[in-house]
Amino acid sequence: MTPEKFFYHIFSPLPRQGPGCTAATQKAWSHLPSIKKNAQVLDVGCGTGAQTRDLTELTSGTITAVDNYKPFLETVSARAQKEGIGERIRTVNASMDALPFGKGQFDLLWSEGAIYIMGFEEGLRAWTHLCRKGGHIVVSDVAWFAKNPPEELTQFWEKEGYIPLTEDEKKDQVWKAGLRLIATFRLPEAGWWEHYYIPLLARVAELRKIHGADPALAAILDSCDHEAGMYRKYKRYYGYAFFVMQNL
Ligand SMILES: C[S@@+](CC[C@H](N)C(=O)[O-])C[C@H]1O[C@@H](n2cnc3c(N)ncnc32)[C@H](O)[C@@H]1O
Repeated sequence: MTPEKFFYHIFSPLPRQGPGCTAATQKAWSHLPSIKKNAQVLDVGCGTGAQTRDLTELTSGTITAVDNYKPFLETVSARAQKEGIGERIRTVNASMDALPFGKGQFDLLWSEGAIYIMGFEEGLRAWTHLCRKGGHIVVSDVAWFAKNPPEELTQFWEKEGYIPLTEDEKKDQVWKAGLRLIATFRLPEAGWWEHYYIPLLARVAELRKIHGADPALAAILDSCDHEAGMYRKYKRYYGYAFFVMQNL
């Protein structure tokens, strides 16, 4: 198995592919003013659709779920069919930096744990035109929670190709992108452990028994353990924050 295939093999059966939880999705939703009945919602970087399904419980509208990895979308569709909500979720295989939708097509843009791929400000700037004026945008992204993070942690993020900003710096970027910030709050720790790292670490331990002797694959498993270890050690310095915004 190639390292890339193996990476997806690790994450595909997990309940979610990034930190998050239903309670936080619901909390973000609770900050929105009443959303019309047949709302058109865009879910960017949906993974296997943990938050997509949560959104179907919060609105009677239609969710367009986008990811650039087709098998994740197949899981989203298969589950939706099984749960009898197939007609409420449309999947689109596309890259978040070239979303194939029209100006103002959506009432609500949603993205959990995926905007870091483009960068917070870049993502907001690239996606906002898809949201109608007066519509809303909700994203979760990693942020520094404390000043002067330790060197080991900044080096870890640098290696990941991403340097978090503070919540205040992100608020500034919201404003610069021409959006109104309605609310921001931190993802609770359960969104990291219970719903993400605990299932991930169990899967890593299982896969190590099968693939641990292959150095390239073992290195990927090690990096998952390392990332969880970083969070365990340094969680007071960083975490995920939700930003609930309005397109003016
Ligand atoms: C950290 S996961 C978050 C998934 C999901 N939102 C969740 O919280 O469980 C990031 C997702 O973005 C997708 N992704 C990565 N690069 C992308 C791109 N350029 N365009 C669209 N999706 C992308 C990945 O396949 C993955 O499903």
